[in-house]
Amino acid sequence: MRRSNHSAVRTPPLIPFVDPITPNLELEEELLAIFRTSLRHGEFVGGSMVEAFEREFARYCDSEFCIGVGSGRDALRIALIAGGVSRGDIVLTVPNAFAATAEAIFQTGARPDFVDVDDLTSNMNWMKLEEHLETQCYRDSATGKLVDKRTQRPLTAIVPVHLCGQPADMDPILEIAEKYDLLVVEDARQAQGAEYFSSKESRWKRVGSIGHATAFGFNPGSNLSACGETGTVTTNDGGLAQRVRRLRDHGHAYDDFGGGGAGLDGVQAGILEAKLRHLVDWDKKRRENAFCYHGLLSPVVERITIPHEPSWARATYDSYVIRVDNRDELRTYLSAANIVTKIHCPVPLHLQDPYRALHHGLGRFPVAETIASETLSLPIYPQLKFDQQYRIAHTVTEFVTRRKENGPRFEPCSYSPDRFSPDEDCSKPLCLTFRSREAELNRGRPNRIANKSEPQMKDVS
Ligand SMILES: Cc1ncc(COP(=O)(O)O)c(C=O)c1O
Repeated sequence: MRRSNHSAVRTPPLIPFVDPITPNLELEEELLAIFRTSLRHGEFVGGSMVEAFEREFARYCDSEFCIGVGSGRDALRIALIAGGVSRGDIVLTVPNAFAATAEAIFQTGARPDFVDVDDLTSNMNWMKLEEHLETQCYRDSATGKLVDKRTQRPLTAIVPVHLCGQPADMDPILEIAEKYDLLVVEDARQAQGAEYFSSKESRWKRVGSIGHATAFGFNPGSNLSACGETGTVTTNDGGLAQRVRRLRDHGHAYDDFGGGGAGLDGVQAGILEAKLRHLVDWDKKRRENAFCYHGLLSPVVERITIPHEPSWARATYDSYVIRVDNRDELRTYLSAANIVTKIHCPVPLHLQDPYRALHHGLGRFPVAETIASETLSLPIYPQLKFDQQYRIAHTVTEFVTRRKENGPRFEPCSYSPDRFSPDEDCSKPLCLTFRSREAELNRGRPNRIANKSEPQMKDVS
C-alpha cells in the first residue's frame, strides 16, 4: 500500500489576545492569602484593605487622594457628579471612546457630545476642542455658563480618554478648560501607569495626577487588573475627593442622583494592592514588546501604520494598535493562523444607535471614522514571548506583502533588556527605518504652548 506524501497540516498554537490567567497563577499563594484574611476579618466591602490600596495607588499616581469604587463606569460617573455635572448638561468626549465612557456620562443625567481625535495618537484633538468651544458654544450672560448653541444646554465638562495606554495631550486641554471654566475628568481605564511630559510644569507626570480628577477601571485584562469589576477616582482636590467618597457611600447629600452605592470590595482591593507592586515591571515589559513590534514591523511601515508615541508621552500599551486598509481581511488571516486580535470601537459612538439623537451623521468626525475602519489590536501582554510576537509580526507582514512564498526576510535588531528604543547606534535597516519615521512624525507638530521645552529622558524603572 502506498503511503500518502501529505503530512498532516499542523495548526500553530493559539496566541490569545489577553492572558488573564498567568499573572494570577504567578501570584496564586499571595492572592489566596488575601482572600483568607478577608474571610477572617469579615471586611468584604470597604475596610482596611480598601484603605491600604487607596493609599498605595494615590502614591503610585502621585495624587493626593484616591477613592476606591465598584468599576471604571462608577468612577467616571461619580467623579463627574462630584465635579458639578448636573442633569441636562453636555459633557464633551471623543467618538472613538469605549461605549462605557458615554454610558457613564448618560448615567449622570448629562448628555455626551463629541470632538474629533488626532490622526497620529487617536486621542482628543485639542485644536478641534478649541474650535468646538469657540464656534459651537456661547457664554450665557445671565448665568455666566457656557451653552451649547445646538441644544441650548450648559456645557460643563470634558472627558479626554487615554486610549490604549497613550496619554492625551493634557497641557493644551487643561489650558482650554481653564479658559472656559470646564471640569476635566480623564478616562484612564486603559492607561494605568502612563506618563505625560507637562511642558507647563517642565516635568513628567503620571496619569492620575494631571486633570481635576481621573477615573480608573481595573477589570481583567487591564495592565493592573482585579479579579472582577473595580475602579478608583484620583484627584488633588480635597473637596472633590470628599464628594466622591460620599457619593460612593450612597451619596445621601446628593438626592438628585445619589452615588448609587459603588463601594470597592475588600478582596479586590487586596488583589489590586498586591498586583500594584508588579505594575512597573509589567508596564515596562509592555513597552519592550511595543518596541519589539515596532522593529519587527518596520519593513512594512509603508503598508501599515504602527502606533506613534509623541516625545511627550510614555505609553503603557494596553493594546498594540496598527492601522491597515483591509483590516477585516487581515483579521481573518490572523485568525486562520490561530492568532486572536481585537477591534476596539469598530463603530464610532456617534454612529451607534443610542447617539443618533445627537444628529451627527457619517462624515461628522472623519478622523475617528477612518480610525474605526482601519485599526486592529494585536496581543501585547507582558507574558507574550518573543517567538509569539515574531509569529504575529511575520503573519501580518506575509499578509500585507502578499508574498507568502518569498516574504521579506526579518532582521530583528538587538534590544538590550534595559532599553525601550531600538539601538541608537544600530545601522540595520529596521532601526534606521524606525528612527527616521519617528523623527519625521515628530517634526512640524504644532505646539500650543510657547517655548515648549523638550522632555528629558526619564528612567521609569
Ligand atoms: C475607555 C474605557 N472607559 C471606561 C471603561 C469602563 O470600565 P469598567 O469596565 O471598569 O466599568 C472601559 C472598559 O473597558 C474603557 O475601555
